[in-house]
Amino acid sequence: MNPGAMIIGTGSALPSRVLTNQDLEKMVDTSEEWITQRTGIKTRRIVGPGESNSKLAVKAAQKALQAAQVAPEELDLIIVGTLTPDYLMPSVAVLVQKELGAYQAGAFDLSATCSGFLYGLSIADQYVRTNPYRKILVIGSEVLSHKVNWEDRTTCVLFGDGAGAVVVTGSREGRGVLSTHLHADGSLWHLLTLKGCGSLYPPCGDELPREEYFIRMQGREVFKNAVRAMETVALKALSFNHVSPQDLSLVIPHQANKRIIEALRERLGLPPEKVFINLHKYGNTSAASIPIAIDEAVREGRLSPGDLVLMVAFGGGFTWAAALLRW
Ligand code: ACO
Repeated sequence: MNPGAMIIGTGSALPSRVLTNQDLEKMVDTSEEWITQRTGIKTRRIVGPGESNSKLAVKAAQKALQAAQVAPEELDLIIVGTLTPDYLMPSVAVLVQKELGAYQAGAFDLSATCSGFLYGLSIADQYVRTNPYRKILVIGSEVLSHKVNWEDRTTCVLFGDGAGAVVVTGSREGRGVLSTHLHADGSLWHLLTLKGCGSLYPPCGDELPREEYFIRMQGREVFKNAVRAMETVALKALSFNHVSPQDLSLVIPHQANKRIIEALRERLGLPPEKVFINLHKYGNTSAASIPIAIDEAVREGRLSPGDLVLMVAFGGGFTWAAALLRW
């Protein structure tokens, strides 16, 4: 088997509209203090008229391709992790393919909630291991603001919109993905849902209460499961590769809640500077959160060749995943 996928370019795109905690104080019964203390989130980005999931995804992809110095027609595959596509048909991925002019590429969306990007990276890694010359675009892109109930203070303060993208190809000099680890537990699906507008409850039906057409979450239960699962899969990735937490240069976790990330950091025994956090700016952007964070880490000079980098995600389903990379 060939070596795994190496990230050769990153990009991200955020809507320009900023929604602050003070803005939310005027919309629901909440406070800047509660949101900051319980989540760490200060602002989030929200799409405006004319903006969409695929448009954000295209912008992020163009930046990633530019950084990788790869032309769109060189791409073999486009994978988009998302739970908020423009349409149920066609996929975001084919809209991206068209806009980029990536005529040689297959394209599909992948539904694994907040773990969608790492699930996508894992698939790309497998493709590249069978042919190291392949070039694959992996995107995480979400417009959660259209799926949030702006009257529900327990969810509307948490989420934001955005997209992140990476270009991967065959590993060189031992760099790239060392291993990926995917998990799911469908028995807990009911703790985090978006029921309306699927095939069971079509959009125009009146079988469901209004709030079921938006994201609903039993936050405390999700929190406990997230901490447990992220620690377990992180340790699994490390032991699989015979390394310890102290060998890590940077952890890039899914950006859902600062307290979840802090709990993970403490359990791994790492200092704050080894864990990347940008959720104060963007909130939880689901599948987009890790690729946006990777792009920011690159642009801030936080990643150098040879660094050992751990990415960990958790989301509705439940799904969770980890990827260990030699940068
Ligand atoms: N403002 C003020 N008070 C609030 C707010 C708010 N925005 N939201 C909830 N509260 C209240 C609750 O009503 C509750 O009041 P009560 O004690 O009178 O009943 C109190 O605050 C505590 O509520 P909890 O839900 O217990 O608060 P908690 O500390 O658990 O924080 C939170 C809630 C932030 C949602 C947290 O549970 C969390 O982050 N959960 C995990 C989210 C996550 O990881 N999601 C990842 C997947 S997302 C995806 O897949 C799309």
